[in-house]
Amino acid sequence: MGYNRGLKYGTVFTVLIVLVAIYYRNSENVLQKRLQALVHGLEKLESKHVITSRAKVAIGYGVCTDVYINAKELLNYSESIGQPQHFDEINTELELLKSFAYYFRHGAAAERYMANGTLFDELVAKARSFSSSYSTIGGNAAIMALRFAREGCDVTLAAKLTRSLHQMMPQVINIVGGEVKRDDIHLVIEYKHGDVWGPYSSARANRYIIHNDANNPKVNSLEAFEELLSTQEPDLLIISGLQMMDNYPFPNGERQELLLKIRKQMVDRPKSTKIHFEMASFAEDKLLFELCDSIIPFADSLGMNEQEIANLHNAMYYGNISLVANSTPRIATVLDQMRTLFKLIRMRSKTVENSRELTRIHVHTLAYQAIFTVKGSKWKNTMAAAAKASLTAHRHVCATSHVDVRKATLILDDSFSTSIVQGTRIALDMDKPVSCWDELLKIANENIPIEACVAPVLVCTEAAQTAGGGDNISSAGLVLQI
Ligand SMILES: *[C@@H]1O[C@H](CO)[C@@H](O)[C@H](O)[C@H]1NC(C)=O
Ligand SMILES: *[C@@H]1O[C@H](CO)[C@@H](O)[C@H](O)[C@H]1NC(C)=O
Ligand SMILES: *[C@@H]1O[C@H](CO)[C@@H](O)[C@H](O)[C@H]1NC(C)=O
Ligand SMILES: *[C@@H]1O[C@H](CO)[C@@H](O)[C@H](O)[C@H]1NC(C)=O
Repeated sequence: MGYNRGLKYGTVFTVLIVLVAIYYRNSENVLQKRLQALVHGLEKLESKHVITSRAKVAIGYGVCTDVYINAKELLNYSESIGQPQHFDEINTELELLKSFAYYFRHGAAAERYMANGTLFDELVAKARSFSSSYSTIGGNAAIMALRFAREGCDVTLAAKLTRSLHQMMPQVINIVGGEVKRDDIHLVIEYKHGDVWGPYSSARANRYIIHNDANNPKVNSLEAFEELLSTQEPDLLIISGLQMMDNYPFPNGERQELLLKIRKQMVDRPKSTKIHFEMASFAEDKLLFELCDSIIPFADSLGMNEQEIANLHNAMYYGNISLVANSTPRIATVLDQMRTLFKLIRMRSKTVENSRELTRIHVHTLAYQAIFTVKGSKWKNTMAAAAKASLTAHRHVCATSHVDVRKATLILDDSFSTSIVQGTRIALDMDKPVSCWDELLKIANENIPIEACVAPVLVCTEAAQTAGGGDNISSAGLVLQI
């Protein structure tokens, strides 16, 4: 009896397990089919627009060697670190650990200047002693240059570098700026989603970068770039890498002087040249305000991530800066920030001599891409650009050219609202994954018609790299729009 009953229970149990397994396999299949449809939809849009002419793209400023290391290998947590804290510049190991904790617990990307060269060299040597550490070409401008070259553009990069680093760059990229003895190094301390460091765990995969640059903050390639621009006019000029100036100990007035020279480089371009400014991680409010005055009014287009838009939005709207923001903000929140920012910049620029009218904003986040372009402006293919940016985000972070849906997930809901106040709901359609709509943005007594596009990102579940993601993504979006 007992034996029989045991058998019965055993059978029921087995059948139950099989049923549960079938259920899970089916729901997993359904999910993968949905994701596959999404990939197809995005790829179809991406490949719809063939790039026919070789666009001329000139990119400033800088290059460096990125040394990658896993956070847990390089930085040990101990209770003596105490409270997380932000420092404008980092001098000691304790300051580094407190600062790392500050950004890590929010999963927020950060880039900080380390004033202590001895400590910096020690850390780089230590990072390099781990077999998991590796080096690549880095710097926003250089990574953008690599991506535009790969997309078939005719690329000039403004950067000063050693001969050995120069030899690592593809020959098709024209590099102006001259030679240096020692390349700037950026130490990229990476972590994955859910990594634990002491009492903190990260909300998303990201990186914390420290540098002790000698060349990039001073934009040493500026003059050579100027010479080049005076002989050939690019279709697109990109200004990036200015965060290297953040909290850098410049002699009095030198930074403003540099920014004025960059401003002149922008103002001197004919209207036919499009100008894009790529934002970055800024912690020094004074620098951010300077950018709002002397760089941003002269750009046609802006690119940034979710931290950077929160920071710029606060700087322009409240006059204060935000060091960390939600690392996975709602679409409605970001769209509202984009609207406010667009209006504020347009309003302010009206009174700035030689300013341009902002016509494009691209915000890249972990979960989606959002692009605004003014209708009838010089930017084309906004929907395809959002699709390409989204695919590039996945490909970059997963370090692959092929999207594998088994290594991808969606972290968006089935629908999203276009605004926190009185937004319309838009359902996510797997077969037509990029949602675009028209809006009127009211500025003073003008109504500016824009096209807004949002593309979901197939978030990579096995992150291989996060640094340089924004640069690849921004460039991928731009290349279809010029
Ligand atoms: C972290 O701790 C381990 C074990 O105590 C030690 O081997 C390693 O050198 C430490 N790393 C750092 C960066 O201090
Ligand atoms: C710089 O770092 C070194 C090595 O960690 C340390 O001994 C020194 O005290 C630091 N200097 C300053 C000014 O904090
Ligand atoms: C900036 O100012 C606004 C309005 O006064 C305030 O709500 C916000 O918390 C401030 N942000 C920071 C980071 O201080
Ligand atoms: C992003 O750019 C870097 C530098 O050019 C490159 O190594 C990497 O493969 C790029 N990512 C993708 C997805 O193309």
